[in-house]
Amino acid sequence: MTFRSSDESGFVERVPADRWRVPWWERGVIYQVYPRSFQDSNADGIGDLAGIESRLDYLASLGVDAIWLSPIFPSPMADFGYDVADYCDVDPIFGDLAGFDRLLLAVHKHGLKLLLDFVPNHSSDQHPWFVESRTSRENAKRDWYIWRDPAPGGGPPNNWISDFGGSSWQWDETTGQYYLHAFLKSQPDLNWRSSEVREAMMSVLKFWFDRGVDGFRIDVLWHIIKAETLPDNPINADWDPCRTQRDQLIQLHSTDQPEAHAISAEFRALADSYQDRVLIGEIALPNDRLARWYGTPAQPQVHLPFNFQLIESEWDAAVLRLKIANYETSLPEFGWPNWVMGSHDAARIAARLGDAQARVAAMLLLTLRGTPTLYQGDEIGIGEVVIPPDRVRDPQDLRQPNLGIGRDRSRTPIPWDATAYGGFSTVDPWLPLNEDWRERNIAAQAEDTDSLLTLYRRLLTLRRSCEALAIGDMTLVGAADEVLVYQRRYAGDGLLVVLNLTHELQALTLPNHTEVIEVLASTLPPSIAKPTHWVLHQMEGLLAPDEGLVLRLKEKN
Ligand code: NOJ
Repeated sequence: MTFRSSDESGFVERVPADRWRVPWWERGVIYQVYPRSFQDSNADGIGDLAGIESRLDYLASLGVDAIWLSPIFPSPMADFGYDVADYCDVDPIFGDLAGFDRLLLAVHKHGLKLLLDFVPNHSSDQHPWFVESRTSRENAKRDWYIWRDPAPGGGPPNNWISDFGGSSWQWDETTGQYYLHAFLKSQPDLNWRSSEVREAMMSVLKFWFDRGVDGFRIDVLWHIIKAETLPDNPINADWDPCRTQRDQLIQLHSTDQPEAHAISAEFRALADSYQDRVLIGEIALPNDRLARWYGTPAQPQVHLPFNFQLIESEWDAAVLRLKIANYETSLPEFGWPNWVMGSHDAARIAARLGDAQARVAAMLLLTLRGTPTLYQGDEIGIGEVVIPPDRVRDPQDLRQPNLGIGRDRSRTPIPWDATAYGGFSTVDPWLPLNEDWRERNIAAQAEDTDSLLTLYRRLLTLRRSCEALAIGDMTLVGAADEVLVYQRRYAGDGLLVVLNLTHELQALTLPNHTEVIEVLASTLPPSIAKPTHWVLHQMEGLLAPDEGLVLRLKEKN
Protein backbone atom coordinates (compact mmCIF):
# COMPACT_ATOMS: atom_id res chain seq x y z
CA MET A 1 0.00 0.00 0.00
CA THR A 2 1.38 3.39 -0.90
CA PHE A 3 -1.12 5.93 0.27
CA ARG A 4 -3.55 6.37 3.14
CA SER A 5 -5.85 9.22 4.00
CA SER A 6 -5.74 8.83 7.77
CA ASP A 7 -3.10 8.38 10.41
CA GLU A 8 -4.31 5.06 11.74
CA SER A 9 -1.71 2.58 12.85
CA GLY A 10 -1.04 -0.58 10.91
CA PHE A 11 0.34 1.36 7.97
CA VAL A 12 2.03 -0.94 5.49
CA GLU A 13 4.99 0.57 3.73
CA ARG A 14 6.05 -0.16 0.23
CA VAL A 15 9.78 -0.67 0.28
CA PRO A 16 11.10 -1.53 -3.16
CA ALA A 17 13.30 -4.62 -2.96
CA ASP A 18 16.05 -2.67 -4.65
CA ARG A 19 15.59 1.07 -4.34
CA TRP A 20 18.19 1.70 -7.01
CA ARG A 21 15.85 0.09 -9.48
CA VAL A 22 13.22 2.76 -9.04
CA PRO A 23 13.13 4.44 -12.48
CA TRP A 24 14.73 7.89 -12.69
CA TRP A 25 11.45 9.59 -13.57
CA GLU A 26 9.80 8.35 -10.36
CA ARG A 27 12.35 9.95 -8.06
CA GLY A 28 13.24 12.77 -10.48
CA VAL A 29 12.00 16.34 -10.78
CA ILE A 30 11.05 17.66 -14.22
CA TYR A 31 11.71 21.27 -15.19
CA GLN A 32 9.82 22.73 -18.13
CA VAL A 33 11.83 24.98 -20.41
CA TYR A 34 9.88 27.23 -22.77
CA PRO A 35 12.71 27.65 -25.30
CA ARG A 36 11.55 30.99 -26.74
CA SER A 37 11.94 32.56 -23.32
CA PHE A 38 14.82 30.79 -21.62
CA GLN A 39 18.00 32.32 -23.07
CA ASP A 40 18.73 34.07 -26.34
CA SER A 41 22.23 33.47 -27.72
CA ASN A 42 22.02 35.17 -31.14
CA ALA A 43 20.51 38.56 -30.42
CA ASP A 44 17.13 38.08 -32.07
CA GLY A 45 15.14 38.51 -28.86
CA ILE A 46 14.02 34.86 -28.88
CA GLY A 47 15.57 32.04 -26.85
CA ASP A 48 17.34 29.17 -28.59
CA LEU A 49 19.11 25.84 -28.06
CA ALA A 50 22.58 27.35 -27.67
CA GLY A 51 21.08 29.62 -25.01
CA ILE A 52 19.70 26.62 -23.13
CA GLU A 53 23.09 24.91 -23.38
CA SER A 54 24.76 27.94 -21.85
CA ARG A 55 22.46 27.71 -18.82
CA LEU A 56 22.83 24.02 -18.02
CA ASP A 57 25.11 24.70 -15.06
CA TYR A 58 22.24 26.63 -13.52
CA LEU A 59 19.74 23.82 -14.08
CA ALA A 60 22.11 21.17 -12.76
CA SER A 61 22.88 23.23 -9.67
CA LEU A 62 19.20 23.93 -9.10
CA GLY A 63 18.84 20.21 -8.51
CA VAL A 64 16.27 19.14 -11.10
CA ASP A 65 16.66 15.87 -12.97
CA ALA A 66 15.14 16.36 -16.39
CA ILE A 67 14.29 19.21 -18.67
CA TRP A 68 11.31 19.12 -20.98
CA LEU A 69 11.52 21.47 -23.93
CA SER A 70 8.34 22.89 -25.43
CA PRO A 71 8.44 22.36 -29.23
CA ILE A 72 11.65 23.24 -31.08
CA PHE A 73 10.62 21.92 -34.52
CA PRO A 74 10.27 23.96 -37.74
CA SER A 75 7.05 25.88 -37.47
CA PRO A 76 5.34 29.02 -38.76
CA MET A 77 4.89 29.73 -35.01
CA ALA A 78 1.18 30.49 -35.28
CA ASP A 79 0.90 28.65 -31.93
CA PHE A 80 4.58 29.11 -31.05
CA GLY A 81 5.75 25.69 -32.13
CA TYR A 82 2.63 23.67 -31.37
CA ASP A 83 2.05 23.94 -35.14
CA VAL A 84 4.75 21.64 -36.47
CA ALA A 85 5.82 21.86 -40.13
CA ASP A 86 8.51 19.15 -39.87
CA TYR A 87 8.64 16.70 -36.98
CA CYS A 88 12.25 15.68 -37.59
CA ASP A 89 14.18 18.93 -37.65
CA VAL A 90 14.85 22.05 -35.60
CA ASP A 91 13.44 25.49 -36.40
CA PRO A 92 16.19 27.94 -37.44
CA ILE A 93 14.96 30.28 -34.68
CA PHE A 94 16.20 27.68 -32.19
CA GLY A 95 19.22 26.31 -34.08
CA ASP A 96 19.71 23.15 -36.08
CA LEU A 97 20.03 19.40 -35.64
CA ALA A 98 23.76 19.61 -34.98
CA GLY A 99 23.03 22.17 -32.26
CA PHE A 100 20.40 19.85 -30.84
CA ASP A 101 22.90 16.99 -30.69
CA ARG A 102 25.36 19.26 -28.91
CA LEU A 103 22.69 20.27 -26.43
CA LEU A 104 21.67 16.67 -25.78
CA LEU A 105 25.28 15.66 -25.17
CA ALA A 106 25.77 18.59 -22.79
CA VAL A 107 22.51 17.81 -20.96
CA HIS A 108 23.67 14.24 -20.41
CA LYS A 109 27.12 15.40 -19.32
CA HIS A 110 25.40 17.49 -16.68
CA GLY A 111 23.69 14.36 -15.41
CA LEU A 112 20.31 15.55 -16.66
CA LYS A 113 17.72 14.01 -18.99
CA LEU A 114 16.12 15.71 -21.98
CA LEU A 115 12.47 15.36 -22.96
CA LEU A 116 10.92 16.74 -26.12
CA ASP A 117 7.37 17.79 -26.85
CA PHE A 118 5.60 15.45 -29.27
CA VAL A 119 2.59 17.04 -31.00
CA PRO A 120 0.68 14.17 -32.62
CA ASN A 121 -2.89 15.50 -32.71
CA HIS A 122 -2.27 18.16 -35.33
CA SER A 123 0.42 19.53 -37.60
CA SER A 124 0.84 22.95 -39.14
CA ASP A 125 -1.06 23.65 -42.35
CA GLN A 126 2.43 24.28 -43.77
CA HIS A 127 3.49 20.67 -43.13
CA PRO A 128 4.16 19.01 -46.51
CA TRP A 129 1.66 16.29 -45.54
CA PHE A 130 -1.16 18.83 -45.29
CA VAL A 131 0.02 20.84 -48.28
CA GLU A 132 -0.34 17.62 -50.30
CA SER A 133 -3.53 16.53 -48.60
CA ARG A 134 -5.38 19.69 -49.57
CA THR A 135 -4.42 19.56 -53.27
CA SER A 136 -7.19 17.14 -54.31
CA ARG A 137 -9.70 14.67 -52.94
CA GLU A 138 -7.77 11.89 -54.66
CA ASN A 139 -4.37 12.78 -53.21
CA ALA A 140 -2.62 9.88 -51.47
CA LYS A 141 -2.38 11.95 -48.28
CA ARG A 142 -6.01 13.09 -48.38
CA ASP A 143 -7.03 10.85 -45.50
CA TRP A 144 -4.01 11.84 -43.38
CA TYR A 145 -6.27 14.65 -42.19
CA ILE A 146 -9.99 14.76 -41.40
CA TRP A 147 -11.93 16.05 -44.41
CA ARG A 148 -15.72 16.12 -44.64
CA ASP A 149 -18.51 17.44 -46.85
CA PRO A 150 -20.70 20.22 -45.49
CA ALA A 151 -23.68 19.23 -43.32
CA PRO A 152 -26.80 18.34 -45.39
CA GLY A 153 -28.24 21.84 -44.96
CA GLY A 154 -24.84 23.44 -45.59
CA GLY A 155 -22.27 24.69 -43.10
CA PRO A 156 -19.74 22.76 -40.98
CA PRO A 157 -20.17 18.96 -40.71
CA ASN A 158 -20.90 19.13 -36.96
CA ASN A 159 -21.13 21.56 -34.05
CA TRP A 160 -17.63 21.11 -32.61
CA ILE A 161 -15.90 24.21 -31.28
CA SER A 162 -12.18 24.78 -31.48
CA ASP A 163 -10.21 25.24 -28.25
CA PHE A 164 -9.26 28.71 -29.41
CA GLY A 165 -12.85 29.69 -30.27
CA GLY A 166 -15.05 29.38 -33.36
CA SER A 167 -15.98 26.27 -35.32
CA SER A 168 -13.51 23.37 -35.42
CA TRP A 169 -14.07 23.19 -39.17
CA GLN A 170 -12.41 25.21 -41.90
CA TRP A 171 -13.83 25.38 -45.40
CA ASP A 172 -11.28 24.69 -48.13
CA GLU A 173 -12.26 26.21 -51.46
CA THR A 174 -9.94 24.13 -53.67
CA THR A 175 -11.52 20.77 -52.94
CA GLY A 176 -14.90 21.93 -51.62
CA GLN A 177 -14.65 20.22 -48.23
CA TYR A 178 -14.08 21.17 -44.62
CA TYR A 179 -11.10 20.00 -42.55
CA LEU A 180 -11.08 19.57 -38.77
CA HIS A 181 -8.88 21.57 -36.41
CA ALA A 182 -9.18 21.32 -32.63
CA PHE A 183 -7.02 24.43 -32.25
CA LEU A 184 -6.19 27.10 -34.88
CA LYS A 185 -7.31 26.64 -38.47
CA SER A 186 -3.59 26.55 -39.26
CA GLN A 187 -3.33 23.43 -37.03
CA PRO A 188 -5.26 20.74 -38.96
CA ASP A 189 -5.95 17.55 -36.97
CA LEU A 190 -4.20 14.43 -38.22
CA ASN A 191 -6.32 11.37 -38.88
CA TRP A 192 -5.12 8.70 -36.46
CA ARG A 193 -7.48 6.15 -38.07
CA SER A 194 -5.01 6.08 -40.97
CA SER A 195 -2.37 3.38 -40.54
CA GLU A 196 0.00 5.48 -42.65
CA VAL A 197 -0.28 8.40 -40.21
CA ARG A 198 0.40 6.04 -37.33
CA GLU A 199 3.47 4.62 -39.01
CA ALA A 200 4.77 8.06 -39.95
CA MET A 201 4.37 9.35 -36.42
CA MET A 202 5.97 6.27 -34.89
CA SER A 203 8.94 6.96 -37.15
CA VAL A 204 9.09 10.47 -35.68
CA LEU A 205 9.38 9.05 -32.17
CA LYS A 206 12.04 6.60 -33.34
CA PHE A 207 13.98 9.42 -35.01
CA TRP A 208 14.36 11.26 -31.70
CA PHE A 209 14.73 8.18 -29.50
CA ASP A 210 17.55 7.01 -31.77
CA ARG A 211 19.21 10.40 -31.33
CA GLY A 212 19.13 9.74 -27.57
CA VAL A 213 16.25 11.79 -26.15
CA ASP A 214 15.03 10.47 -22.84
CA GLY A 215 11.34 10.81 -23.49
CA PHE A 216 8.44 12.94 -24.57
CA ARG A 217 5.66 15.03 -23.20
CA ILE A 218 2.80 14.24 -25.56
CA ASP A 219 0.65 17.24 -26.45
CA VAL A 220 -3.16 16.93 -25.96
CA LEU A 221 -2.99 13.15 -25.99
CA TRP A 222 -6.65 12.80 -25.08
CA HIS A 223 -7.62 14.58 -28.31
CA ILE A 224 -5.74 12.22 -30.58
CA ILE A 225 -8.65 10.31 -32.13
CA LYS A 226 -12.29 11.29 -32.64
CA ALA A 227 -15.53 9.29 -32.69
CA GLU A 228 -15.63 7.67 -36.12
CA THR A 229 -18.91 9.21 -37.32
CA LEU A 230 -18.12 12.65 -35.84
CA PRO A 231 -21.50 13.19 -34.12
CA ASP A 232 -22.46 16.56 -32.64
CA ASN A 233 -21.14 17.16 -29.13
CA PRO A 234 -23.83 17.63 -26.44
CA ILE A 235 -24.61 21.13 -25.22
CA ASN A 236 -23.13 22.00 -21.82
CA ALA A 237 -26.07 23.36 -19.82
CA ASP A 238 -23.68 24.74 -17.18
CA TRP A 239 -21.69 26.88 -19.57
CA ASP A 240 -20.73 30.23 -18.16
CA PRO A 241 -20.28 32.92 -20.85
CA CYS A 242 -17.19 34.15 -18.97
CA ARG A 243 -15.52 30.88 -19.92
CA THR A 244 -14.01 29.86 -23.22
CA GLN A 245 -16.38 29.23 -26.14
CA ARG A 246 -15.20 25.62 -26.31
CA ASP A 247 -16.94 24.88 -23.01
CA GLN A 248 -20.35 25.52 -24.56
CA LEU A 249 -20.18 21.86 -25.54
CA ILE A 250 -19.20 18.72 -23.68
CA GLN A 251 -16.34 17.23 -25.64
CA LEU A 252 -17.89 13.79 -25.63
CA HIS A 253 -17.12 12.74 -29.19
CA SER A 254 -14.11 14.90 -29.97
CA THR A 255 -11.81 13.71 -27.13
CA ASP A 256 -11.02 10.73 -24.87
CA GLN A 257 -12.19 8.03 -27.28
CA PRO A 258 -11.63 4.36 -26.37
CA GLU A 259 -9.45 3.83 -29.46
CA ALA A 260 -6.94 6.39 -28.17
CA HIS A 261 -5.71 3.96 -25.52
CA ALA A 262 -4.40 1.51 -28.11
CA ILE A 263 -2.39 4.33 -29.67
CA SER A 264 -1.05 5.34 -26.30
CA ALA A 265 -0.05 1.70 -25.67
CA GLU A 266 1.75 1.65 -29.03
CA PHE A 267 3.78 4.70 -28.00
CA ARG A 268 4.65 2.98 -24.77
CA ALA A 269 5.70 -0.25 -26.44
CA LEU A 270 8.06 1.75 -28.62
CA ALA A 271 9.44 3.71 -25.64
CA ASP A 272 9.95 0.44 -23.75
CA SER A 273 11.95 -1.00 -26.63
CA TYR A 274 14.59 1.59 -25.62
CA GLN A 275 16.12 1.87 -22.16
CA ASP A 276 14.94 4.20 -19.43
CA ARG A 277 12.66 6.39 -21.53
CA VAL A 278 9.59 8.14 -20.21
CA LEU A 279 6.30 9.22 -21.74
CA ILE A 280 4.21 11.95 -20.18
CA GLY A 281 0.71 12.53 -21.49
CA GLU A 282 -0.88 15.96 -21.50
CA ILE A 283 -4.39 14.88 -20.55
CA ALA A 284 -6.93 17.18 -18.93
CA LEU A 285 -9.57 14.81 -17.58
CA PRO A 286 -11.19 13.96 -14.25
CA ASN A 287 -9.37 11.38 -12.10
CA ASP A 288 -11.29 8.27 -13.12
CA ARG A 289 -10.71 8.93 -16.82
CA LEU A 290 -7.15 10.18 -16.30
CA ALA A 291 -6.19 6.96 -14.52
CA ARG A 292 -7.07 4.88 -17.59
CA TRP A 293 -4.11 6.40 -19.43
CA TYR A 294 -1.73 4.40 -17.26
CA GLY A 295 -3.08 1.32 -19.06
CA THR A 296 -2.64 -2.03 -17.36
CA PRO A 297 0.48 -3.88 -16.20
CA ALA A 298 0.12 -6.13 -19.25
CA GLN A 299 -0.45 -3.23 -21.62
CA PRO A 300 0.92 -0.05 -20.07
CA GLN A 301 0.34 3.35 -21.64
CA VAL A 302 2.00 6.60 -20.60
CA HIS A 303 4.19 6.53 -17.50
CA LEU A 304 2.83 9.84 -16.23
CA PRO A 305 -0.56 11.18 -17.29
CA PHE A 306 -0.06 14.82 -16.29
CA ASN A 307 -2.01 15.81 -13.19
CA PHE A 308 -2.95 19.51 -13.31
CA GLN A 309 -4.94 19.70 -10.08
CA LEU A 310 -2.53 22.00 -8.27
CA ILE A 311 -2.84 24.49 -11.12
CA GLU A 312 -6.59 24.45 -11.01
CA SER A 313 -7.32 24.04 -7.32
CA GLU A 314 -8.69 26.59 -4.94
CA TRP A 315 -5.91 27.36 -2.40
CA ASP A 316 -7.56 25.88 0.63
CA ALA A 317 -6.27 23.06 2.80
CA ALA A 318 -9.57 21.16 2.96
CA VAL A 319 -10.04 21.37 -0.82
CA LEU A 320 -6.46 20.30 -1.51
CA ARG A 321 -6.64 17.46 1.01
CA LEU A 322 -9.68 16.07 -0.75
CA LYS A 323 -8.15 16.50 -4.19
CA ILE A 324 -4.95 14.75 -3.13
CA ALA A 325 -6.92 11.90 -1.53
CA ASN A 326 -9.20 11.47 -4.53
CA TYR A 327 -6.33 11.56 -6.98
CA GLU A 328 -4.26 9.07 -4.99
CA THR A 329 -7.14 6.64 -4.59
CA SER A 330 -7.93 6.85 -8.30
CA LEU A 331 -4.48 5.61 -9.30
CA PRO A 332 -4.00 2.01 -10.37
CA GLU A 333 -1.83 0.01 -7.97
CA PHE A 334 1.17 0.23 -10.33
CA GLY A 335 0.59 3.88 -11.32
CA TRP A 336 3.07 6.49 -10.08
CA PRO A 337 1.55 9.92 -9.24
CA ASN A 338 2.74 13.27 -10.56
CA TRP A 339 2.02 16.93 -9.85
CA VAL A 340 2.27 19.97 -12.11
CA MET A 341 2.38 23.41 -10.49
CA GLY A 342 2.76 25.74 -13.48
CA SER A 343 3.07 25.77 -17.25
CA HIS A 344 3.26 27.94 -20.35
CA ASP A 345 -0.54 27.66 -20.58
CA ALA A 346 -1.52 28.56 -17.02
CA ALA A 347 -1.38 31.68 -14.87
CA ARG A 348 1.84 32.02 -12.85
CA ILE A 349 1.60 30.41 -9.42
CA ALA A 350 2.99 33.55 -7.70
CA ALA A 351 0.42 35.68 -9.54
CA ARG A 352 -2.33 33.46 -8.12
CA LEU A 353 -1.03 33.11 -4.58
CA GLY A 354 1.37 35.98 -3.89
CA ASP A 355 5.01 35.72 -2.77
CA ALA A 356 4.49 34.21 0.68
CA GLN A 357 2.21 31.40 -0.44
CA ALA A 358 4.36 30.74 -3.52
CA ARG A 359 6.91 29.49 -0.95
CA VAL A 360 4.33 27.17 0.58
CA ALA A 361 3.41 26.00 -2.92
CA ALA A 362 7.07 25.14 -3.57
CA MET A 363 7.12 22.98 -0.45
CA LEU A 364 3.87 21.29 -1.43
CA LEU A 365 5.04 20.51 -4.95
CA LEU A 366 8.36 19.09 -3.78
CA THR A 367 7.07 17.03 -0.86
CA LEU A 368 3.97 15.35 -2.28
CA ARG A 369 4.24 11.74 -3.37
CA GLY A 370 4.93 11.70 -7.10
CA THR A 371 7.03 13.30 -9.80
CA PRO A 372 6.88 17.11 -9.66
CA THR A 373 6.96 19.29 -12.77
CA LEU A 374 8.28 22.77 -12.18
CA TYR A 375 7.85 25.53 -14.76
CA GLN A 376 10.71 27.90 -15.60
CA GLY A 377 10.56 31.18 -13.71
CA ASP A 378 8.33 29.85 -10.94
CA GLU A 379 11.48 29.19 -8.91
CA ILE A 380 11.99 32.97 -8.63
CA GLY A 381 8.29 33.67 -8.23
CA ILE A 382 7.63 35.65 -11.38
CA GLY A 383 4.16 37.05 -10.72
CA GLU A 384 1.59 38.82 -12.83
CA VAL A 385 3.09 40.41 -15.92
CA VAL A 386 0.85 42.87 -17.68
CA ILE A 387 1.28 42.55 -21.43
CA PRO A 388 0.49 45.81 -23.23
CA PRO A 389 -2.25 45.18 -25.84
CA ASP A 390 0.10 45.92 -28.74
CA ARG A 391 2.51 43.22 -27.54
CA VAL A 392 0.01 40.37 -27.12
CA ARG A 393 1.23 37.36 -29.13
CA ASP A 394 -0.82 34.44 -27.82
CA PRO A 395 -3.26 33.34 -30.54
CA GLN A 396 -5.76 32.16 -27.94
CA ASP A 397 -5.78 35.58 -26.28
CA LEU A 398 -5.98 37.39 -29.61
CA ARG A 399 -9.06 35.36 -30.57
CA GLN A 400 -10.85 35.59 -27.20
CA PRO A 401 -9.40 38.77 -25.68
CA ASN A 402 -11.96 39.39 -22.98
CA LEU A 403 -11.61 36.13 -21.06
CA GLY A 404 -8.43 36.99 -19.18
CA ILE A 405 -6.87 33.67 -20.22
CA GLY A 406 -3.89 35.17 -22.02
CA ARG A 407 -0.88 32.86 -21.94
CA ASP A 408 1.82 35.45 -22.74
CA ARG A 409 1.98 36.48 -19.10
CA SER A 410 3.47 33.11 -18.16
CA ARG A 411 5.76 33.00 -21.21
CA THR A 412 7.85 36.11 -20.54
CA PRO A 413 11.66 35.79 -20.72
CA ILE A 414 13.71 34.60 -17.77
CA PRO A 415 15.52 37.50 -16.09
CA TRP A 416 18.98 36.14 -15.36
CA ASP A 417 20.52 39.24 -13.84
CA ALA A 418 20.16 43.01 -13.60
CA THR A 419 21.97 43.81 -16.86
CA ALA A 420 20.09 45.05 -19.94
CA TYR A 421 17.07 42.88 -20.82
CA GLY A 422 17.75 40.82 -17.74
CA GLY A 423 20.68 39.08 -19.43
CA PHE A 424 18.12 37.16 -21.50
CA SER A 425 19.07 38.90 -24.72
CA THR A 426 20.98 41.89 -25.99
CA VAL A 427 17.89 43.23 -27.78
CA ASP A 428 14.28 43.85 -26.78
CA PRO A 429 12.81 40.37 -26.24
CA TRP A 430 9.76 39.02 -28.08
CA LEU A 431 7.69 39.49 -24.90
CA PRO A 432 8.39 42.00 -22.13
CA LEU A 433 10.18 40.95 -18.95
CA ASN A 434 8.47 40.95 -15.56
CA GLU A 435 8.34 44.56 -14.42
CA ASP A 436 10.44 43.86 -11.30
CA TRP A 437 13.21 42.04 -13.20
CA ARG A 438 15.96 44.28 -11.81
CA GLU A 439 15.32 42.87 -8.33
CA ARG A 440 13.59 39.61 -9.19
CA ASN A 441 16.16 37.74 -11.25
CA ILE A 442 18.15 34.53 -10.95
CA ALA A 443 21.48 36.14 -9.99
CA ALA A 444 19.96 38.30 -7.26
CA GLN A 445 18.02 35.39 -5.78
CA ALA A 446 20.97 33.02 -6.02
CA GLU A 447 22.88 35.25 -3.61
CA ASP A 448 20.00 35.86 -1.25
CA THR A 449 19.58 33.20 1.42
CA ASP A 450 16.03 34.43 2.01
CA SER A 451 14.95 34.09 -1.62
CA LEU A 452 12.44 31.72 -3.16
CA LEU A 453 15.19 30.34 -5.39
CA THR A 454 17.25 29.44 -2.34
CA LEU A 455 14.20 27.74 -0.85
CA TYR A 456 13.70 25.75 -4.07
CA ARG A 457 17.34 24.70 -4.00
CA ARG A 458 17.09 23.60 -0.38
CA LEU A 459 13.93 21.64 -1.01
CA LEU A 460 15.35 19.99 -4.12
CA THR A 461 18.49 19.03 -2.21
CA LEU A 462 16.38 17.66 0.63
CA ARG A 463 14.21 15.67 -1.76
CA ARG A 464 17.29 14.18 -3.39
CA SER A 465 18.83 13.18 -0.08
CA CYS A 466 15.67 11.88 1.49
CA GLU A 467 14.09 8.67 0.22
CA ALA A 468 10.93 9.32 2.20
CA LEU A 469 10.30 12.40 0.06
CA ALA A 470 11.50 10.99 -3.24
CA ILE A 471 9.86 7.59 -3.23
CA GLY A 472 8.25 7.08 0.17
CA ASP A 473 4.64 6.43 1.01
CA MET A 474 2.21 9.15 1.96
CA THR A 475 -0.53 9.45 4.56
CA LEU A 476 -2.81 12.47 4.69
CA VAL A 477 -3.39 13.47 8.28
CA GLY A 478 -6.66 15.05 9.35
CA ALA A 479 -6.02 18.57 10.66
CA ALA A 480 -7.46 22.04 10.87
CA ASP A 481 -9.03 23.26 7.67
CA GLU A 482 -6.37 25.84 7.10
CA VAL A 483 -3.38 23.54 7.52
CA LEU A 484 -2.50 20.74 5.13
CA VAL A 485 -0.66 17.91 6.86
CA TYR A 486 0.78 14.67 5.56
CA GLN A 487 3.33 12.09 6.49
CA ARG A 488 5.95 10.63 4.19
CA ARG A 489 7.67 7.38 5.14
CA TYR A 490 10.35 5.14 3.81
CA ALA A 491 12.17 2.29 5.51
CA GLY A 492 11.60 3.53 9.03
CA ASP A 493 12.19 7.20 8.27
CA GLY A 494 9.05 9.24 8.99
CA LEU A 495 8.53 12.85 7.97
CA LEU A 496 5.67 15.20 8.61
CA VAL A 497 4.87 18.04 6.22
CA VAL A 498 2.70 20.82 7.63
CA LEU A 499 1.61 23.68 5.40
CA ASN A 500 -0.16 26.75 6.64
CA LEU A 501 -2.09 27.90 3.58
CA THR A 502 -3.16 31.15 5.20
CA HIS A 503 -1.63 34.47 6.21
CA GLU A 504 -2.66 33.87 9.84
CA LEU A 505 -1.19 31.98 12.78
CA GLN A 506 -2.48 28.41 12.95
CA ALA A 507 -2.31 25.71 15.56
CA LEU A 508 -0.28 22.62 14.82
CA THR A 509 -0.98 19.32 16.51
CA LEU A 510 1.34 16.42 15.88
CA PRO A 511 -0.02 12.92 15.23
CA ASN A 512 -0.45 10.84 18.39
CA HIS A 513 2.55 9.01 19.78
CA THR A 514 5.07 11.02 17.79
CA GLU A 515 7.65 13.65 18.53
CA VAL A 516 9.70 15.91 16.30
CA ILE A 517 13.38 15.15 16.24
CA GLU A 518 14.52 17.47 13.44
CA VAL A 519 13.24 20.42 11.43
CA LEU A 520 14.40 19.66 7.88
CA ALA A 521 12.99 22.68 6.06
CA SER A 522 10.90 25.77 6.61
CA THR A 523 9.26 28.07 4.07
CA LEU A 524 10.04 31.08 6.22
CA PRO A 525 13.02 33.14 5.06
CA PRO A 526 15.89 32.21 7.44
CA SER A 527 16.37 35.83 8.49
CA ILE A 528 12.87 35.96 9.95
CA ALA A 529 12.34 32.33 10.90
CA LYS A 530 12.03 31.57 14.58
CA PRO A 531 14.60 29.26 16.09
CA THR A 532 13.80 25.76 15.00
CA HIS A 533 14.13 24.22 18.46
CA TRP A 534 10.71 25.69 19.35
CA VAL A 535 8.91 22.74 17.98
CA LEU A 536 11.25 19.95 19.01
CA HIS A 537 9.83 17.54 21.53
CA GLN A 538 6.53 19.38 21.60
CA MET A 539 3.16 17.92 20.86
CA GLU A 540 1.67 21.23 19.93
CA GLY A 541 2.86 24.48 18.50
CA LEU A 542 1.92 27.42 16.39
CA LEU A 543 2.58 27.78 12.74
CA ALA A 544 3.50 31.28 11.66
CA PRO A 545 1.52 32.87 8.82
CA ASP A 546 2.50 31.25 5.49
CA GLU A 547 4.72 28.77 7.28
CA GLY A 548 5.40 25.33 5.94
CA LEU A 549 7.65 22.81 7.66
CA VAL A 550 9.18 19.46 6.88
CA LEU A 551 9.74 17.71 10.21
CA ARG A 552 11.41 14.42 11.01
CA LEU A 553 9.32 12.45 13.45
CA LYS A 554 10.02 9.68 15.86
CA GLU A 555 7.45 7.29 17.26
CA LYS A 556 7.25 7.70 21.04
CA ASN A 557 7.58 4.55 23.06
C1 NOJ B 1 -1.34 22.25 -25.41
C2 NOJ B 1 -0.15 23.16 -25.39
O1 NOJ B 1 0.40 23.14 -24.10
C3 NOJ B 1 -0.62 24.52 -25.81
O2 NOJ B 1 0.36 25.50 -25.62
C4 NOJ B 1 -1.03 24.44 -27.26
O3 NOJ B 1 -1.57 25.67 -27.68
C5 NOJ B 1 -2.09 23.34 -27.47
N1 NOJ B 1 -1.76 22.13 -26.78
C6 NOJ B 1 -2.22 23.00 -28.92
O4 NOJ B 1 -1.11 22.26 -29.35
